[in-house]
Amino acid sequence: MELENLTVICQEAKSDIQKASTSEDVIELRNKYLAKKSALSALLSELGKLPPEERKEFGQKLNQARAEISELIEAKDKEIKAEELKKKLQAEEIDISLPGRNNDVGGQNPFHVVKDEITDIFLNMGFEVADGPEVETDLFNFELLNIPKDHPARDMQDTFYISENVLLRTHTSPVQAHSMKAAEGKPLRIICPGKTYRRDDDDATHSHQFAQIEGLVIDRNINIGHLKATLELFAKKMFGEKREIRLRPSYFPFTEPSVEVDITCANCDGKGCSMCKGTGYIEILGGGMVHPNVLKMNGYDPDVYSGFAFGIGIERVAILRYGIDDIRKFYQNDVRFLHQYRKRAYGGIYHVS
Ligand code: DAH
Repeated sequence: MELENLTVICQEAKSDIQKASTSEDVIELRNKYLAKKSALSALLSELGKLPPEERKEFGQKLNQARAEISELIEAKDKEIKAEELKKKLQAEEIDISLPGRNNDVGGQNPFHVVKDEITDIFLNMGFEVADGPEVETDLFNFELLNIPKDHPARDMQDTFYISENVLLRTHTSPVQAHSMKAAEGKPLRIICPGKTYRRDDDDATHSHQFAQIEGLVIDRNINIGHLKATLELFAKKMFGEKREIRLRPSYFPFTEPSVEVDITCANCDGKGCSMCKGTGYIEILGGGMVHPNVLKMNGYDPDVYSGFAFGIGIERVAILRYGIDDIRKFYQNDVRFLHQYRKRAYGGIYHVS
């Protein structure tokens, strides 16, 4: 009886195994034929009931059947797994003949690179960064800088007026007045990078919006030697150790004396070339000793305090440093331009093309 049962179970198992086609089917097969509650296990529990002479033979048969079914299931399992893997690989196949996707990274605008570099140079000299509004009053943009209403210097600084006395600042110099008032007569050492505006027709060398970095130092016993040493260090850090500077007399209403600062031409090392128009020098910024009227109007006693100030055109420095031929390129957001100036993680600029 039991032997017949075993034969039936084996036949059924073989047919089930043949039909199996998924991993789930294999799990079911194991449960049905090999697990504790399987039909084979049930027969095993019958073993004790057989007469001893039949017990041995039936036991062996049972074990053989179990081993055979187990082998067949494992073989089926391998076959199914191989098939499933094949299907998965086919489904996930990557067509390596497709052209790759180009993750285009831009570059930091050289304007910002230069602004950050200039800022860092002055931060390392102990300057702090100050801020001021771009929409300014006539008072701060002109009056407090010793440029009264009828002053001819205003002609060179026409701008966008919001109302008669409110305008877009023409330079970063009003931050001098804001900072002096906020410092309430205490020593000052600030720079202010920021946007400035003038009524200008845009071309390769003019832009109605541009940017400056203002500098201001006020303390006791500040003299023009401090101005020169500070700007010389700036020139060397920005344009290279070999650069020399030259101060030429100039005029600004808010400084006295006023200077124009030139550096020796990096192209010819000061010998004279087409870039410096044969002079050996290139103008980079304006500055001077803070005018006593400016000190007085902004809360300092000119008999006790003195100071120097300067204004650097950021685009001008970037143009000189990187040989850029058109100021408008800084603002046009053209990736072909930005691609040429990529900032590496450790600083420094390199030209890609
Ligand atoms: N504000 C001046 C301009 O825009 C630049 C300048 C010159 C700033 C001399 C200064 C300075 O602080 O001392 O033309």
